[in-house]
Amino acid sequence: MSETVSRRSLVKRAAVAAAPAFVPNLLAQNKKMTVGFIGTGGRGNYLMDRLYAGSGERITVLGVCDTYAGNLNRAKDKVATVENKSAKTYIDYLQLLADPNIQVVVIATPEHLHHEMTLAALKAGKHVYIEKPLAQTIEKGEELIKAVNTSGKKVQVGTQNRSNSLYIMAKTMVSQGLIGECHYVRAFWYRAALTNGAPAWRYNIPADAAPENTDYGRFLGPAPKTPFNKNRYFQWRLYWDYSGGISTDLLVHQTDISNFVMGKTVPKTCVASGGVYRWTDNDDRDVPDTLSALYEYSDKFHINYSCYFGNDEFGYGEQFCGNEGTLQVLNRQTLLFTPQKFAGKPPAHVAARSEVKLDLRGNDNPAVEAHLRNLLDAIDGKAQLVAPVEVGQMAAISGHMATLAYRNNKMVVWDDKARKYNFV
Ligand SMILES: NC(=O)c1ccc[n+]([C@@H]2O[C@H](COP(=O)([O-])OP(=O)(O)OC[C@H]3O[C@@H](n4cnc5c(N)ncnc54)[C@H](O)[C@@H]3O)[C@@H](O)[C@H]2O)c1
Repeated sequence: MSETVSRRSLVKRAAVAAAPAFVPNLLAQNKKMTVGFIGTGGRGNYLMDRLYAGSGERITVLGVCDTYAGNLNRAKDKVATVENKSAKTYIDYLQLLADPNIQVVVIATPEHLHHEMTLAALKAGKHVYIEKPLAQTIEKGEELIKAVNTSGKKVQVGTQNRSNSLYIMAKTMVSQGLIGECHYVRAFWYRAALTNGAPAWRYNIPADAAPENTDYGRFLGPAPKTPFNKNRYFQWRLYWDYSGGISTDLLVHQTDISNFVMGKTVPKTCVASGGVYRWTDNDDRDVPDTLSALYEYSDKFHINYSCYFGNDEFGYGEQFCGNEGTLQVLNRQTLLFTPQKFAGKPPAHVAARSEVKLDLRGNDNPAVEAHLRNLLDAIDGKAQLVAPVEVGQMAAISGHMATLAYRNNKMVVWDDKARKYNFV
């Protein structure tokens, strides 16, 4: 055998030996999960960032859909920058869903569109990440539970606090008895003017927004018809036609995570009160800027919720008040534990407990990444969903109860057997 031949065969053998190391990589690349985005506004844009940051090697974005051209183009540009390829763009979400190559859709549109879009996505055979609240009414959420359960598809609801390391730690601490008996949670969210001085929730309206680049009819969807109105389109949270206001936007996160930490499900009753007190000047908002809601559970448990948009001194968070200690999770990034003082004479087992302070700046980002990754893992059969549709509906029920109580000025009672609410 000549030296050349022997060298060539050596090279060949080396290549064969190296092959198995490359094959799984190639396969993995071919198996990238294919994603479509419906709604690429504030949240959709952020979710795309988090999906790329936390699962970039596992996914590829094939299509993006939005009814405002500015947000649609921004999403398309992001895919081009990150993946160096062109995503298809859609104004009609049904056309995106008709692409058989898309396996998963992320839906981050206004609340009133969640129900029809999730139903259509399931019908088209997609797995779904649907932002909270699950749906605009309790009844629509119940329909979604049925649809998900007959679809065989994975649906993750965007209550990402359940994937937040601090809340997971808080749950463990509570279950280990650190705070003793707990019958009472105080939850709050305080905000003021936006950083540009605009009234709370009066988010920026793009300068170029016009009927030519903003499909108002598709935005309205099942909502009552109104003429083109930029405030309603870009500040939809402020109007009952598209939103349940504070209750379904902010409160749902907080009752949801209180339930998670404390091992609860749904409240039995809710009363709520408040009003539009702070932002009244030339402001046609429907939803209150001031809201308090009180929840009673069937097992001696109470949530005291308050939200005000005129003072942001206290930020937001939940305080789990046990007879032996207090656990607080603040702004999704700080966990505090303080043992009860018992007027200076604590029992020895409580005196032995030290204070805890943990600060994890920006801890919502890894939480959202983990929440998205959990959906991919569930689709791959490697994990259970952290916030499946039933859990998302539990969160939404608390929110809807507060809106119903506020708008009707009545106590709302949840009948968990009948899966219906009543007024008393
Ligand atoms: N989990 C969280 O912490 C969190 C935070 C913020 C928002 N959200 C949720 O995300 C959702 C979106 O909120 P946002 O703040 O991004 O609102 P947004 O107004 O910034 O974005 C909504 C986007 O949907 C688009 N859109 C409207 N109608 C559409 C249609 N028919 N088809 C396709 N696109 C359409 C709009 O053009 C806009 O780009 C809401 O459900 C909200 O509650 C969740």
